[in-house]
Amino acid sequence: MSVSPGTNNSAADNFSELARTRRSTREFLPDPIPEELLSSVISDTLWAPSWSNTQPYRIAVARDDLRNRIEAGLCERFDIAVKAQHGSIFRKLMLLVTRRGLPDGDFTTNFKYPKDLQLSRRATGHGLYALLGIDRKDHAARNRQMRRNFEFFGAPVVLFFFVHEGLREFSVLDAGIAVQTLLLSAHAHGLGSCAQGALATWAGPVRKEFDVPEQYKLICGVSLGFAAPKPVNQFNPGRGGPGTILLDRNS
Ligand SMILES: Cc1cc2nc3c(=O)[nH]c(=O)nc-3n(C[C@H](O)[C@H](O)[C@H](O)COP(=O)(O)O)c2cc1C
Repeated sequence: MSVSPGTNNSAADNFSELARTRRSTREFLPDPIPEELLSSVISDTLWAPSWSNTQPYRIAVARDDLRNRIEAGLCERFDIAVKAQHGSIFRKLMLLVTRRGLPDGDFTTNFKYPKDLQLSRRATGHGLYALLGIDRKDHAARNRQMRRNFEFFGAPVVLFFFVHEGLREFSVLDAGIAVQTLLLSAHAHGLGSCAQGALATWAGPVRKEFDVPEQYKLICGVSLGFAAPKPVNQFNPGRGGPGTILLDRNS
């Protein structure tokens, strides 16, 4: 398909529609993704641009039993961590001694948010929990919802992205472009998706299942499948706000 510059064309209209209507899916149907459909989305993803076309990432695709084993491994660690967090000194000590449940990811997912990003982080969290009817102080319900991350929100397929440490930040940038290509292709093909930084918390259960070269580091996962007709999938945190686009000094 060729696109003539500056003209009103359907590719531009379609793209705007696609980019603006994609939303994160946080409740999936258990239906499997047909083989051909999954291949199309993955093939689109591989066309993402990257630094010198190095494609400095690896994508591990998990489904069926393999997906279930990883889910079990992640949920086990999540449960241990939650119990230690809210439990006795003994539980906390056990966590430190056995190290099971302690994050073993390649990047930390538990950091102090910069002040200037807190506002939108809070608004997104509050909006999502309000839609789910979860009270801010209801820690049990919040933990249950957090655990859904490690259950991949019920998605039948999950893709784990690993970035080459040798290209530093640029591998992460390139992987980000690939992730967005995946999300948009999935949306165009009628699939729901959710990028999940939370899935970088524990790398062990994923590495155990794939031959991931040592220099590739787990940066995130993407859950993929058909969206369930649930209110949580209507959540739209909006965009923009002042400050994203910088104005030149003279305007
Ligand atoms: C790198 C990245 C990591 C994310 N991590 C999570 C996550 O761990 N759990 C989750 O529910 N959503 C996660 N999201 C989804 C964002 O919360 C979501 O993209 C944002 O709120 C905007 O909503 P939208 O995707 O529906 O437009 C992540 C998105 C990105 C791009």
